Amino acid sequence: MGSEPLRPPRGTRDFYPEDMRRRSWLFDRFRAVSRGFAFEEVDAPIVEHAELFIRKAGEEIIDQLYHFTLHERELALRGEITPSIARMVIARAGGLKLPLRWFCIGQNWRYERMTRGRTREHYQWNAEILGEPDVTAEAELIAALCALWDALGLPRDAVALRVNSRALLEETLRGGVLRDRPDAFAPLCVVVDKLDKIGAEAVLDQLTDPTGLVALPREDARWVVETLSVKSLDEAAAAAPADSPALASLRRLFELLDAYGIGDRAVFDASVVRGLAYYTGIVFEGFDTRGALRAVCGGGRYDRLIESLGGPAMPAVGFGMGDVVIGELLADHGLLPEPPRGVDDVVVALDEPQRAEAIRVASALRAAGRSVELTLGRARLKRVFAHADRIGATRIVLIGEDEAARGVARIRDLASGEERDEKIR
Ligand code: HAM
Repeated sequence: MGSEPLRPPRGTRDFYPEDMRRRSWLFDRFRAVSRGFAFEEVDAPIVEHAELFIRKAGEEIIDQLYHFTLHERELALRGEITPSIARMVIARAGGLKLPLRWFCIGQNWRYERMTRGRTREHYQWNAEILGEPDVTAEAELIAALCALWDALGLPRDAVALRVNSRALLEETLRGGVLRDRPDAFAPLCVVVDKLDKIGAEAVLDQLTDPTGLVALPREDARWVVETLSVKSLDEAAAAAPADSPALASLRRLFELLDAYGIGDRAVFDASVVRGLAYYTGIVFEGFDTRGALRAVCGGGRYDRLIESLGGPAMPAVGFGMGDVVIGELLADHGLLPEPPRGVDDVVVALDEPQRAEAIRVASALRAAGRSVELTLGRARLKRVFAHADRIGATRIVLIGEDEAARGVARIRDLASGEERDEKIR
């Protein structure tokens, strides 16, 4: 075997015990915040029928699919969880009490070009509210994101949200450059989402490509790009139709965020349209305020996805936040923890005749809920002490010939160094 198979494929990660402890620390916080907001956990297979993911709007995520044919079935590793959630909802559509609050933590696969914070597999915390058309759902989700950042110990100004509404952009464009071209809107969003990454000229080229899905005249395309540079809601309102429902809903969202006490953590930004075709309404992205990283999280309203997959008409909104970018951000702020192993006791039989006694003691401690490492093989006391210290155990429970004869164990408290005997029989 060459050396290649001995490394994880590029862009994927091994999780050694210390990495797993950190990952569990993060996931515990995802779960605690989800519970605080009354979300129920769900999961789905990581392999799905490829067709579930395929859309024809030119999205990057589709080109990045890990797909394969197995026994004549076209399968794919999921690049995101949202289509699987939609599939699960459809399967039970008649019997579900809406609105649903579901969350999920799962691994996603995307064959990305690798940059900082961009890997080929990542775990994502998703929270979704399904069956609720009102903007109170968006507010609740954004509040959950802020609660997570607080739970991770990030300074209040370290992360913020940019918010926009695709519905507002759609109203504006459908009254003008996209009149009578409803199908061009989603592909247009997919293209303009690349503005930061590929620059205005390349976006204009794609929007005007006569063989593309948008195919706008250059002048119209330029107008679209200019519309995206609007940074205030009032300015956007001036270009929107009078009595725009999308505008009213955006304004309501900012009022609701104020009521949650997080109004200062979100700003309107017309350039946020998101790169996934299925969004239909409010969209948002979390970003680090130092500007060093790619989006921390992203989400929005996708009121037509479930229907487009063959389910009932069902409004839906949700977000995804990956473990990689938030990990980088925590590291930048010196906030990545080194969670301890959490071992309570190291139980030692000094010699083989005491092993049965040590096993009994370890079993009793484990039954009482303590984490116990029973020393295996021949114990060398010096090594046991050094090891217990290194793994951060709180006590050493030692049984030698003398202790066994007296029916006790010698307990050493590793923090204070104090020792005492405790009855074991
Ligand atoms: P997304 O913006 O593609 O949205 O991904 C959400 C988050 O996942 C990103 O902001 C980032 O934190 C993380 N992420 C995505 N790709 C990578 C990557 N290659 N490497 C590391 N992290 C990554 C979605 O996936 C939507 N399904 C979210 C959603 C749920 N919308 C509604 N519900």
